[in-house]
Amino acid sequence: MTSALLGLDLLLTVLGAVLWLAAGVRASSSDTMRGSTRKLRETMRRDALIAAWFAAAAAAVSIGRVLVVTALARHGWAFVQEKVWLALPLLLVPAGAAAVLAGPALARLRPVPVRGRLALLTTGYGAVAGAAVAFVIGYPATWLSGAVMIALVGAVAAITWQVLTGRARTLTIVPLASAAVLVVAGPLTVAAVRSDAAPVHQHGAAGRLVNQLRTPASSAGPVKRFTLTAGRQRVTLPSGRDVDAWTFGSLPGPPMTVAKGDLVEVELRNTDIAEGVTLHWHGYDVPNGEDGVAGVTQDAVLPGQSFRYRLLADQAGTYWYHTHQHSSEGVRRGLFGTLVVLDAPPTGVDLTIPIHTLDGAVLVGESDHVMRTRVEPGQPVRLRLVNTDTTPHRLSLSGVDFRIVAVDGRDLVGERSSTGKVLRIPAGGRYDVSFSMSSAPVRLGVAGGGGAGLVLAPGTDSSPAPFVDGVDLDLLGHGTTGDGATGHLPTVFDRDETIVLDRQLRFIGGVPRYAHTVNGQAYPHVPPIVVNEGDLVRLTVVNRSSETHPMHPHGHHVLVLSRNGVPPSGGPLWLDTFDVQPGEVWKVALRADNPGVWLAHCHNLDHAALGMVLHLQYRNVRAPFTVGGTTPNRPE
Ligand code: C2O
Ligand code: CU
Repeated sequence: MTSALLGLDLLLTVLGAVLWLAAGVRASSSDTMRGSTRKLRETMRRDALIAAWFAAAAAAVSIGRVLVVTALARHGWAFVQEKVWLALPLLLVPAGAAAVLAGPALARLRPVPVRGRLALLTTGYGAVAGAAVAFVIGYPATWLSGAVMIALVGAVAAITWQVLTGRARTLTIVPLASAAVLVVAGPLTVAAVRSDAAPVHQHGAAGRLVNQLRTPASSAGPVKRFTLTAGRQRVTLPSGRDVDAWTFGSLPGPPMTVAKGDLVEVELRNTDIAEGVTLHWHGYDVPNGEDGVAGVTQDAVLPGQSFRYRLLADQAGTYWYHTHQHSSEGVRRGLFGTLVVLDAPPTGVDLTIPIHTLDGAVLVGESDHVMRTRVEPGQPVRLRLVNTDTTPHRLSLSGVDFRIVAVDGRDLVGERSSTGKVLRIPAGGRYDVSFSMSSAPVRLGVAGGGGAGLVLAPGTDSSPAPFVDGVDLDLLGHGTTGDGATGHLPTVFDRDETIVLDRQLRFIGGVPRYAHTVNGQAYPHVPPIVVNEGDLVRLTVVNRSSETHPMHPHGHHVLVLSRNGVPPSGGPLWLDTFDVQPGEVWKVALRADNPGVWLAHCHNLDHAALGMVLHLQYRNVRAPFTVGGTTPNRPE
């Protein structure tokens, strides 16, 4: 609904601009003709008639826009702020003047007086400025952006006045036109230059350093060692297809399965990934210095270099690891693997299955074909499904009665049968399902999976693993406490923050891009969310764009408070990656209990690379690393 209104608003904005300009041009078109022949009078009458129609249509569209904005405002101020403060006044003020100055003449199909023509054209300029507000300014409009728009419309209107009254002189037009150009070029140049410079905000003056926040080497527990070596690798897929991958030794990377209580030591080496690599533990809440974000918690590991990570296996569940340097390219090409912390040794079959797309081939686990596993009837089975892609995956599990037992490494409370439901896993998200093996084959299918899938069967079986469509499971209604009780949700917060996701023209690294913005800015220039240790933070995430944004805060899980104003009707839902679909508003609670400078971003990594990243910055921590500038660090 909200998303449809946003689309309609954009349509009316563009349509209104065209119609108001057309009305103004038509009303002025017979202006230069002189004389009083019958033919001329007829032409003038026809022009007045057409102008009147255009003006009437334009007025109707503009009224429509006001209604749409009013309806949108009910879904949240963040959907309409710049429309109410800037776009609508730019449209309605000159439109009011046009009604007074041009309306009477148009109604009687008479030639429109010069002031009326100016008003009609200026309404057209205001409407065009309104479209610019939609694509260039967005949320939030500031005093500066407003002043620039008003000055621009004013300058163009002044030039029009000169032309309409026949008083146009080089002496007046040139300064006015230059002023208009300066008003636009000035801020644009500042924005372009600024976008190419490193941001200053991550260098606080005092406090602890990010790289002092590490897992102590002396932590108790048996030590589990892994070495991951990043490099380019030509991989032959089971289908026989060759792909040029970047891997941590295999595709996917070596699975890391450890027991609760282990101390995990991982040595990362880079052979020949020229862009550099890091290791980030997606969803695993490590001390900040282990988080593996180039330019924030460490420098990128370049060819020939290495870095040692240490994790305490104290959070049982399903996670994954991936590079966080040039991650939009690196992860896609294969720099990822799974991380599982086991509570206890598995009693039955326990499979971890990353789903990944590489060069158009969908891999379920290691295979772009059907993977087959033999399982005896009655055996307990746990499948850990991990979406390592940038867009959601829809999965079906057919042939068995199953339950979802954990999401994003956190057990669900009051889980119940999800049989027949489609599992729509956000980019980066994990669903653990469990069931008791049936006597017939159990099939895991992927929508659009091109034949990849998993078949568990008691005997030999060669059937395919088709995707079986159905209704998407909604986690917000999941769990047996579905009585609407929300007593577990906090209501008092130390900090209330709003994150508005949008698409705007912005400079990124000095280059103009159609960026994915956070609060009107592109990374690394998005203002951080600043917290004190211990704060309970409420985050409101508003998606004004037409794409899904899987939002992922590092170092913390969030408790879902509501989606579009409706609290979850099931048990408490803890996530580290949540899909904010177009037009949606999510409210989540985050406890600031893990000091550091953390990334929070859209896990559609292509969106992240186009700006959709910000920092969650603890007041007493600073990062001695830098993103961009002369460093190789590009975490997105
Ligand atoms: Cu999967 Cu910034 O992370
Ligand atoms: Cu996104």
